[in-house]
Amino acid sequence: MRTIGLAVLAAAVAAFLSLDSRRGRDGDVAVLEIRAGDGGRLELIPVDGGAAGPESVAFDGAGCGPYAGVSDGRVLRWLPTERRWVERSSSCAPELLHSCRSSQDPGREHECGRPLGLKFNSETGELYVADAYRGLRVVGPEDNVSRPLVPPEWQGSRPFSFANGVEIDYETGAIYFTETSTRFRRREFLNIVISGDNTGKLLKYDPKSTGVEVLVDGLAFANGLAMSRDGTYLLLAETTTGKILRYWIKTPKASTLEEVVQLSWFPDNIKMSPRGGFWVGLHAKRGKIAGWSISYPWLRQLILKLPMRHVQRASWLLNRLGRQVIAIRLNEEGKTIEAICVHGALQKVFRSVSEVEERDGSLWIGSVMSPFLGVYRL
Ligand SMILES: *[C@@H]1O[C@H](CO)[C@@H](O)[C@H](O)[C@H]1NC(C)=O
Repeated sequence: MRTIGLAVLAAAVAAFLSLDSRRGRDGDVAVLEIRAGDGGRLELIPVDGGAAGPESVAFDGAGCGPYAGVSDGRVLRWLPTERRWVERSSSCAPELLHSCRSSQDPGREHECGRPLGLKFNSETGELYVADAYRGLRVVGPEDNVSRPLVPPEWQGSRPFSFANGVEIDYETGAIYFTETSTRFRRREFLNIVISGDNTGKLLKYDPKSTGVEVLVDGLAFANGLAMSRDGTYLLLAETTTGKILRYWIKTPKASTLEEVVQLSWFPDNIKMSPRGGFWVGLHAKRGKIAGWSISYPWLRQLILKLPMRHVQRASWLLNRLGRQVIAIRLNEEGKTIEAICVHGALQKVFRSVSEVEERDGSLWIGSVMSPFLGVYRL
């Protein structure tokens, strides 16, 4: 059975690739190929004290950092000149901090916390933390323990099951965040993809009224968020469907949602790039995805149902690179303009990339699983 499935898949891939080679010559996608020992441009910074998984990074109002949330519930701050991490905050109660430190056990995430999306308010110095289990939280400039920002009772007795992305609207102070699923928790993320769960939400917290509004419901793995440069819309990654969505905040289209592009990878976090467009981190577990698509025909159907121009572009990239794409940069219309691809031993290191944040000529590469934070100097 399995062999037949693989043969079918191989045939499908071959079909994609042959389509591709025709398109491959109009190479309008810049490709950044990263190899181990690449003239010292790539550095893998080990996470502090046995923790792992710097899923997302943020810089504070003074440009210091990055800060990253890790597996044991802490947010760490990188001091580049001293080349070490210091603790910035924890999501857990202070009495649990000692026993949580260095935990990589998903079974403890609900008590230790699991910070994912981070965003500084550069005016107040506050750090907003989307903690997968403990909801939307805030750390004051003088504090080192986060406190809930959204009142726990806003949705009755139901606790947060999976808060994920966070973004701020500097004009209004509103905070946008995603709840990936209301049925499954972070450690059950595969169930969300496999079951096709669509209980994800895009939410808005209004600091004036302290109310929470559900802007979009019915999302299949609501994930990363990024505000456009002009503040007119939010970009949102819907991981299960591979879609990048646009939620209009202003303009006559305000409050509506539209599709920007459908990718043939699983997109995670979105970060605007200073060179234009935005970076999307990709979970590049192609082997696993292939495995799923054999076991779950609907997933294969999904891949096969992608609009041909996307399939062609994706397959062109795969063909050209022949290996692992960890992130792509898209323009605001959703066209791929740059791809990052890793080779050799780095394929294992970056087997599941969550985010690429470009800042001052460096790409910071976060992963929810890796024990390192990657930094690549362009
Ligand atoms: C917060 O501060 C207290 C008191 O200085 C310290 O014991 C604790 O380790 C700090 N926690 C973090 C996460 O930095």
